[in-house]
Amino acid sequence: MTQAFLPPQITTEAGSGPDTVAQPRKVFVKTYGCQMNVYDSERMSDALTRDGYQAVDSVEAADLILINTCHIREKAAEKVYSQLGRLAKLKSQRNAAGGDLMVAVAGCVAQAEGQEIIRRAPVVDVVIGPQTYHRLPDALARARQGESVVETEFPAEDKFDNLPAAPEKAIRTRGVAAFLTVQEGCDKFCTFCVVPYTRGAEVSRPVGRIIEEAERLSGAGVREITLLGQNVNAWHGKGADGREWGLGELVRRLATIDGIDRIRYTTSHPRDMDDALIAAHRDLPELMPYLHLPVQSGSDRILKAMNRRHTAAEYIRLVERIRAARPDIALSGDFIVGFPGETDEDFEDTMRLIREVKYAAAYTFKYSIRPGTPGADMDNQVDEAVKSERLLQLQELISQQTRAFGKECVGKTVELLLEKPGRNTGQIVGRSPWLQPVIVDAKLGEIGDIVTVRITQPGTTSLFAEPVE
Ligand code: 5AD
Ligand code: SF4
Repeated sequence: MTQAFLPPQITTEAGSGPDTVAQPRKVFVKTYGCQMNVYDSERMSDALTRDGYQAVDSVEAADLILINTCHIREKAAEKVYSQLGRLAKLKSQRNAAGGDLMVAVAGCVAQAEGQEIIRRAPVVDVVIGPQTYHRLPDALARARQGESVVETEFPAEDKFDNLPAAPEKAIRTRGVAAFLTVQEGCDKFCTFCVVPYTRGAEVSRPVGRIIEEAERLSGAGVREITLLGQNVNAWHGKGADGREWGLGELVRRLATIDGIDRIRYTTSHPRDMDDALIAAHRDLPELMPYLHLPVQSGSDRILKAMNRRHTAAEYIRLVERIRAARPDIALSGDFIVGFPGETDEDFEDTMRLIREVKYAAAYTFKYSIRPGTPGADMDNQVDEAVKSERLLQLQELISQQTRAFGKECVGKTVELLLEKPGRNTGQIVGRSPWLQPVIVDAKLGEIGDIVTVRITQPGTTSLFAEPVE
């Protein structure tokens, strides 16, 4: 799992009436976990900006520290508690000196622990689960009156539709590629995973809201959107024609928005990869040829125990169909080694599947027990040393494939969306259709331009390219 730290946010003047010059309150947001947490943090920051806050990039400068937590791996809650222990010291020092520091915990640990957080860490003023972010401004107002607020139920309403939209300035500072949540939650109940418990049942956002948000992003200069959902390809909603749309139709509609030149989506489940979505890959140049399609294991026995509801052969057939529709598509995956009961043969099946599919990239994990999930009660847990050994082997194979993929790109002519200045002066970094960062001469264009280049050299994490005459 990637750990993402929210970049410093937007500043707008707010919180001052006609005859007062109030200092805006300052919020520091720290984000752990997946891209959806990054997106959620941005939405919470937007709402707080509208509510008179200014985002800052240090704990020291903040009046409110908001931690957006991740619960996907073991000991996540313990790590949050030790972080809160450090914040307790800071808060008592600050408040003894007349300050008024507040601490809020959001995200999946907030959802899983709820009231327990305030019991164990009284430093916390607000605990807010991922389904209740629209109540954040109100929760903070109540907390300022001295209440300890815990908001963790799963309301039916769309949490974002009651949050103020991002100020356009804020979107601009975030750059030319943006996330857009279309779906949240999961009904799949893989036996290793906490998501169905922390994020709740699958909820799709309505078509109209998604289009509105995409248009707003495009208006602010965003050229690439990544549609987010824990089970993004399970998204469905009623379209303007009254029919039920799937993600394929949604992508088709979004591709017609002026200024939206690139579309991606993540994370997909193999069971929900339908014909319409595969056809969208065939037909739409805007839909980038990169697909994150986790399989977790290559052993049918383990897939069954994981409740993945497909076999290795079905997955491989699906990959073949997708590649037939879009031959240059690159695939990435997630793999878990050491799921309860995994034998050497099962692990070898995973290695075989990887050799057959050939991935451009993958996230690899050792199975970690998540209390409350069925996997936690399975009695054939795998030894840690065995897990570590398998993880090493798997990572070695994936690195070989990633390097091979980078090498295959050399000599290809590709379009890059220029996203940010390079580390060295005179360089600019763009992203290839296959999500690779590519370094080019800054004279080639401005951030937000799409330029055509030829890949010249693979690097360790990025590629190099030169302009095409
Ligand atoms: N142990 C190890 N990896 C896990 N993942 C989810 N739950 C667990 C767990 N209990 C991995 C899966 C998933 C990714 C986001 O995290 O591979 O696809
Ligand atoms: Fe977790 Fe499985 Fe749902 Fe993915 S599909 S979020 S792994 S339960």
